This record gives sequence, C-alpha cells and structure tokens, in this order.
Amino acid sequence: MDSKYSAFTFKVPNKIQKPNHVNFNGNGIKRPRLDDQQTKLCTNGSVPAKQRKLLPVYNVRHRLIAEIQKTPTVIIIGETGSGKTTQIPQFMHEVNMEKSGIIGITQPRRVAAITLSSRVAEEMDCKQGELVGYTVRFEDVTSSHTKLKYLTDGMLLREAMLDNLLMAYSIIVLDEAHERTVHTDVLFGIVKQAQAVRRMKKLAPLKIIVMSATMDVDHFSNYFNHAPVVYLGGRQYPVKVLHAKHNQEDYVFSSLVTIFQIHKEAPPNHDILVFLTGQEEIEAMANSIRQIALELDGKAPQLKVYPLYSSLPSQQQLDVFRPTPVGMRKVILSTNVAETSVTISGIKYVIDSGMVKARSHHPGTGLDMLKVQKISQAQAWQRTGRAGRESSGFCYRVYTKQEFDSLLKNSIPEIQRCNLTSVVLQLLALGINTLEFDFIDKPPREAIVCALEQLKYLGAIETVDNPGLTKLGMKMAQFPLDPRFSKILLSANEYNCVEEILSIVSLLSGESIFFIPPNKKDKALAARQKFVSPAGDHITLLNIYRQYSSLTVKKQWCQENFLNWRNLHYASEVRTQLQELCRRCNIPMSSCGQDYDQVQKCLITGLFMNIAEIQRERQYMTVGSRQIVSIHPSSTLFGSQPPCVLFTEVVQTGRCYMRQLSRIEPDWVMDIVPNFASKHRLTAHVT
Ligand code: CDP
Ligand code: MG
Repeated sequence: MDSKYSAFTFKVPNKIQKPNHVNFNGNGIKRPRLDDQQTKLCTNGSVPAKQRKLLPVYNVRHRLIAEIQKTPTVIIIGETGSGKTTQIPQFMHEVNMEKSGIIGITQPRRVAAITLSSRVAEEMDCKQGELVGYTVRFEDVTSSHTKLKYLTDGMLLREAMLDNLLMAYSIIVLDEAHERTVHTDVLFGIVKQAQAVRRMKKLAPLKIIVMSATMDVDHFSNYFNHAPVVYLGGRQYPVKVLHAKHNQEDYVFSSLVTIFQIHKEAPPNHDILVFLTGQEEIEAMANSIRQIALELDGKAPQLKVYPLYSSLPSQQQLDVFRPTPVGMRKVILSTNVAETSVTISGIKYVIDSGMVKARSHHPGTGLDMLKVQKISQAQAWQRTGRAGRESSGFCYRVYTKQEFDSLLKNSIPEIQRCNLTSVVLQLLALGINTLEFDFIDKPPREAIVCALEQLKYLGAIETVDNPGLTKLGMKMAQFPLDPRFSKILLSANEYNCVEEILSIVSLLSGESIFFIPPNKKDKALAARQKFVSPAGDHITLLNIYRQYSSLTVKKQWCQENFLNWRNLHYASEVRTQLQELCRRCNIPMSSCGQDYDQVQKCLITGLFMNIAEIQRERQYMTVGSRQIVSIHPSSTLFGSQPPCVLFTEVVQTGRCYMRQLSRIEPDWVMDIVPNFASKHRLTAHVT
C-alpha cells in the first residue's frame, strides 16, 4: 500500500490505493481550427477587460463574426472555458448584429444562466437587467433595454408557446447543445421551424447558433440543413488521470478521503473540484470537510468549501467564482453543472465520483425516477478536462480503469429516457403533434403514447388518438410546472384549499427545506417532530410553511429548527408567482383550515399515478406501474406502515424509495379518478 493513501488522522480503510496513470490527450478534436495565437494566461483574476483579451476566442473574433454573418445557422465547437458563452454574444452585439431584436442564449441550468449573465454584465459594465439580463423559472431580470438575454432552455420553450416564431429574437444561441436536455432537443425543432417560416413569410430573419464543447458534429450539421461548423482552437494542458485501484463501495466516502489526500500534499491555491450528484450529498460532504479540517494540524493551507448546485441561491453561486485568497485552498463540491456550463478558475485537481443524478422514466411502467447513475465516458473526459484549464493538472477517478471502460461512450439524450408528459403538453399548446415533430433524435414511440395516456387521465386531452387540448389542458400548459402539479393547482378550488396547495406545490418546486447535519441528526429530527403530521410529509411541509410565513424574524427561527432558510425563502417567492398566475386564471383564493383530507384528496387529482399499496412488512407496490418500493428514511411516515400512500417521487439508490408521501384512503382514489382506479384495481377493492 502506498503511504500517500493512509496517513490521515481520521481512520481511512485501505480503500483507495495508488491508481494507474493514464495520459490525457485533450478531447480529440481533429478538424482544422481557426488560427489561435498562443497567449499567456492572466493570473490576476480581477480585471475582466484584460481577461477577455486572453480568451482563445478573442483572437479569432473577426473571422468568427464573418463566419456567423455568412449563413443563417452556424455550429460552433470549442473547449469549455474558451469564451463561447460569455464572449460570442458580446462580439455580435459590438457589430450590432442583433439589429432591433434580442440575442437569446439558452442554458440547460438556471445556475449557469444567472452566473453567466452576471459575468457578462460585469464585463460590459452594466447592471443586470439592463443591457444584459436573465430569465429563469420564477425569476425574470430583464427589461425593455435588454439585448443579451441568458435564459434556460425551458424558459425559451415557454416563450415559444406565446409566439412560436420567437419574433422578439433576431439571434438565438442554443448553448451547451451536447447536453441534449429535453428542452434543448425540442428547441432545435422549434427554432428550425421558426427560422424557415420567418424566411418563407419574408419576416425579419432568425439566426441560429448552436454551441457545444463536444458533440456529434455531423449529426447536428445534417439536422440543420448542413450548417457550417466552426472549430475554435482552445488550449488544454495535460491532465494526469488516476483511477482507483480497486472497486469502491462508497463513492462519497472515497471522494472525501481523496480530498484530504490531495490537501495534505498540494501547495496552497491549488484548488480542488469534486463532482458529486446532488444538494443533500454535497451539503453533507461540505459539513464533513469543515469538521475534519478543524482537526487537521496547522501545516495544511486553510480550506474554503463551496457547494455548487442548481438550486443554490444566486449570491452563493457567485461566491464560487471569486479568486481563492492567497495561501488558502478552495474545494468546490459540484453537480455536473461544472462539467461544461460554468468555468471556475484555479482548479488543479478534479475528483470524479463517476456518478450523476438524472431523471429517468420507464415507458413500460410509466414510473418516473430520480436515479443516481454512472456517467458516460464523454462526461468523464469533460470532468477530467476541468483540471487542465490553466496549467497541467490531475484527475482522480474514484473508480477503476475497468469500470471506466465499461461506461457508455456517450450519454443517452434525455428525450429518449425521460417522462414526456410535460413536453407533449407544451408541444400540443404550440399546435404540434409530438408523433410528427421533427426531432433530431426521436423519442421512443411508446414513451409518447404513455405521455398522451397520462395527459388523458389528467383531463388535458380528449383522446389519445386525436390529441387536441381541452380547456383544462390549455390552462395546465400555462403553468411552469409539471402537468401533474398544474392539475393539482387547478383542482384546488374544488377542494377549497388553494392556499394550502399553493404552499405545498411551491415547496415541492425547490430543494429540500430540511437541513440535517450528520453530526446533529438527532437534534434536527427532534426539531422536525414539532411540525410532523400523521397525514404525512405534505401536511408536515404545510405546517412548517404556515409557521414560517407568520413570522417576522425568519432566519433565526429557521436556524433553531434546522430548516434551510434560503430554500424556504425561494419557495415563498415561487408561491407569489404561482398565486399571480392563479389570479390570471380566475382561480379564487380559498382555505380548508385544518381539514387536511381536502388537501390530500386534491393531491390525488394530479398524482394518482403515484400511489402505492402495502404488500407485506415495509414493502409497497405502486398501482399501475407495479414496482416494488419502500418508504424513504427521510419521510415522516418512515417506520409507520399506512396501507395506501401517495408519493411525490421515486429515487433509486440501491432500492427504490418513495419520497414525500401522504397517507391516503383507497376510497378517495375510486371517487376522484374512477377510470384510473378501475383499470388498475386497488387491492382494497378486489373482492
Ligand atoms: O462557454 P465557454 O465554456 O467556452 O467559456 P465561457 O463560459 O464564456 O467562459 C470564459 C471564461 O470566463 C472562463 O474561462 C472564466 O475564466 C471566465 N468566467 C468567469 O470568470 N466567471 C463566470 N461567471 C463565467 C466565466
Ligand atoms: Mg459555455
């Protein structure tokens, strides 16, 4: 065993051993590149104007602009960090390419849209919301002066519902195209059509720019009528890749161990970027690191830990980008957002857990799942590349070379593995039949049919064969929510509980409001007990929200009760927006007071596909999809065994767990969704 891997003050089993070395040779872009003069990198991190000139894209800007001007659609490929997202929109604006329109730049994640807009506003020396702004779900920081608008792909799709020709835009940049999110994939078809129709009708032209770090270029170029491809030269320093010698049972623990192995030896200001899967995991690890750091002897540099995930409040997101104070070390714990969407300077070490949390859908059973799963080789290389942005670096893969070899070469596009209910509804609102839509890669037919069936049960369409939107369906499409939650909100008036449902849906739209530090778990759970309702998690959430909103001093109360103030605050902002949408849809406010059955019944109107019945000791089976599931340990119903439950989602971590549950009566299901209930007979009614 190599001593490098064992000399820690906390007890580390000999899990990670000295891994093999592999050389990293960039990501293999072979086509000719535009000239790129070698420039020296700026190390003084606070002068954006100077930094801009040092980005690879700067030297080729004139040729780039000429290429973009030549054709209606251009595909631009370049290394992460070469300046595509922040610079190219500015170059276009400098020559007034947008004319009287707007340049819209889409991002798959809100965290990226917000931080990029903030960065570009800083570079252009303007306030956010003026020349440069952003729009993400529940937040719009733009004005009539905005020319450069960073927005999530989901938001642009919503705008297309109001104007399918997207006339406000003269240029649309579909960024991070390699991510292939469902929304980006759908947008490809929408903007392609908008461009063609605008040309045909002799309206103002629409320029489309597709940008990506890596992607199957020919596939994209063919789809966009053989659009030209521009390759940006980028620099990528060599990164030494190290694999774990043996299989690791626990990637979180192994990543933690690796952080301190690096920390003990690496010089200060050599920062570490760790790829993990989600908020809870990241916050728990951040806590562990801070604890362990306190116990280390004084020789190692001081550690500063920064979490980075999509639902992180804007201010905290920006903190990650500040240069590390001299003599310290930054450790960034990120989801896959740092893979390509955002670039953080100073990273010398990458630790790759090899895992990612992704939504997946089983079209056969209709069950939707959040699943921690293995990344693809392409993702592994992207993560590796983050260590070689400014100088040579290291990438520690917490998995073996054999495991790497067994990973999929490329990730499967989301559209081929996720629930399409939302997309199908949005396309219907645009007057498009999903089965005939010009997808770059078609989703499986059965997934579309499954989505149509769900929409029929929800009352959004009349029949699967002739899917025109009902009045209810049109209303559902207006809410920026999963159709199941839109349905719940639109049913709330009938159950006299609009206030309550607004609160619950808002809380479910953000990340968990519970803050449970591993070392204070008992205290945190005791604090939660005060709010717990025997009805389950939804009513527990409601109890918390009711108290929260009645207080004037909220922050301290949250701290005392182990609640995440920021996430509660976010929920309250979401609630305000949804309330406004309800007002516009003429839904009057109403409250059921303490009659919680009304709330539970209302939840069934949208979540009836998420019902499970007990089979035997602690084991449940979902109605309809017939999956074996258990109650997640984080649920307030964990330990009790109600015969019938409604759940918000299923997560798979080894076993399948239902999260956020309510105890319900089978009779209610029969009353509320008789068609569904009789098709998938609930056991209580089998005679
Ligand atoms: O899009 P691409 O990955 O090619 O690069 P970019 O996002 O335009 O970023 C270019 C450079 O701007 C990065 O290398 C970062 O150094 C810097 N940047 C930053 O400092 N802070 C941000 N919020 C975004 C970018
Ligand atoms: Mg970018």
